[in-house]
Amino acid sequence: MLSIAAPLLGWFNKNRRSLPFRDDPTPYHIWISEIMLQQTRMTAVLPYYDRFIRELPTPADLALCDTDRLHKLWEGLGYYSRADNLKKAAQVIMEKFGGKLPSDYSELLSLPGIGPYTAGAIASISFGIPAPAVDGNVLRVFSRLYNDRADITLSVTKSRVTGRVIDEMPKDRAGDFNQALMELGAILCVPGEPKCKECPLSDRCRAYAAGTAASLPAKPDKKPRRVVAITVLLVHSPKGWLLQKRPPEGLLKGMWQPFCVNGALTKNDANKILENLLPDAHITGTLPQAKHIFTHIEWQLSGFIAETEVRKDIDGFVWADTMDEYAIPNAFRAYKPYLQKQKTNLSE
Ligand code: ADE
Ligand code: SF4
Repeated sequence: MLSIAAPLLGWFNKNRRSLPFRDDPTPYHIWISEIMLQQTRMTAVLPYYDRFIRELPTPADLALCDTDRLHKLWEGLGYYSRADNLKKAAQVIMEKFGGKLPSDYSELLSLPGIGPYTAGAIASISFGIPAPAVDGNVLRVFSRLYNDRADITLSVTKSRVTGRVIDEMPKDRAGDFNQALMELGAILCVPGEPKCKECPLSDRCRAYAAGTAASLPAKPDKKPRRVVAITVLLVHSPKGWLLQKRPPEGLLKGMWQPFCVNGALTKNDANKILENLLPDAHITGTLPQAKHIFTHIEWQLSGFIAETEVRKDIDGFVWADTMDEYAIPNAFRAYKPYLQKQKTNLSE
C-alpha cells in the first residue's frame, strides 16, 4: 500500500479541531484528557476537562485531592476507577518523578492506569517520542485500510496494527501522526458508515476499494450481560438523605449510593429490612423502575422512598443534606432528582 503519512498529515493540518489540551499539550494535560476520552465522547469530556484542570492544575494538586472531591469532579463521566488511578499515579509522580510526568515510554507505562495507548499518546504528543498510540479509532482505521477482518479485541490483532502504525509513522512527527489517525477515526472513518468520499486516504484504502468499510472492524459475538436486580431505598430524615459507601473493591468501589439491597424486593420485604436499620422508618412511595448497563453487568433497579424522624448515626452510612460533596454514580440517575429535593414528596 502507498504510504499514508503525507495525505493524512496534510488533511490533519487543515482539519484539526482546536482542543484545549491540543492547544496546550503539556504531559499533564494530555494525560488527563486521554484518560477522560477513553470511555467518554469528546463533547461530553470538554467541560469536565476544563473544570478538572482549573481545580487541579498540577500533579501535586491531584495527588493531594480528597477522593470524594475527586469523584465529584468526575461525577457523570463514569468508570470512576479511572479517577482513582489518576490520583494513585499522581502520587507516584510526586514520589518517584519529582512532580513531573516522565519523558520515557516505559516509565509512563509503569504508572497506574496508564496502558500502552495512553503511554504512547503522552510520549508522542507531549514529548515527540516516536511511540504508537493505538486506540479504538486507530484499530478501526487500520482494519479498513488493510481490509482486515480480524477480531480487534484480540491482542494479536492489536500487535499487528501496532506494527503497521510504526511502519507508517514519520518518526519526527509522531504526535501529529497519532492525533491525525485518531482524528480521522473520530471525524471521517467513523463507526458504521464512514465518510470515504471526503477521506484523504480513499485512494489507498482496501476496504473502500472492496466496498467492505461499513462492515469493519469485525467484532466477536458479545457474551450476554449478567442481569442483577437491585432495590433502592431512598430514605429521608430531618438530616437529609441516607447514603452508604460501596465496598472498597468491585463494581463502583468506594462510591456513595442510596441504601441498596440485592434482589427485587416487595414493599413488605423492603419495610422489614428498613425497620431493622431504622425502627420508625416507613415507606411513603414507590420509585420508577430503571436499568443501567455496565460493561459486563446489567442492573435492573426498582425501589421505594421512605421517611424517618430518627437522626440515628449508622455505621457505613451518612445523612447528606446536600449532594455537593457526594458523587452518585450514573447508574442511579433515575433517582437523582429525588436526592436534589429536601422532601420525599416531589410535588412540593
Ligand atoms: N480521541 C481520543 N484521544 C484523541 C485525540 N488526542 N484527538 C482526537 N480524538 C481523540
Ligand atoms: Fe476509512 Fe473510508 Fe478513509 Fe478507508 S476510505 S480510511 S474506510 S474513511
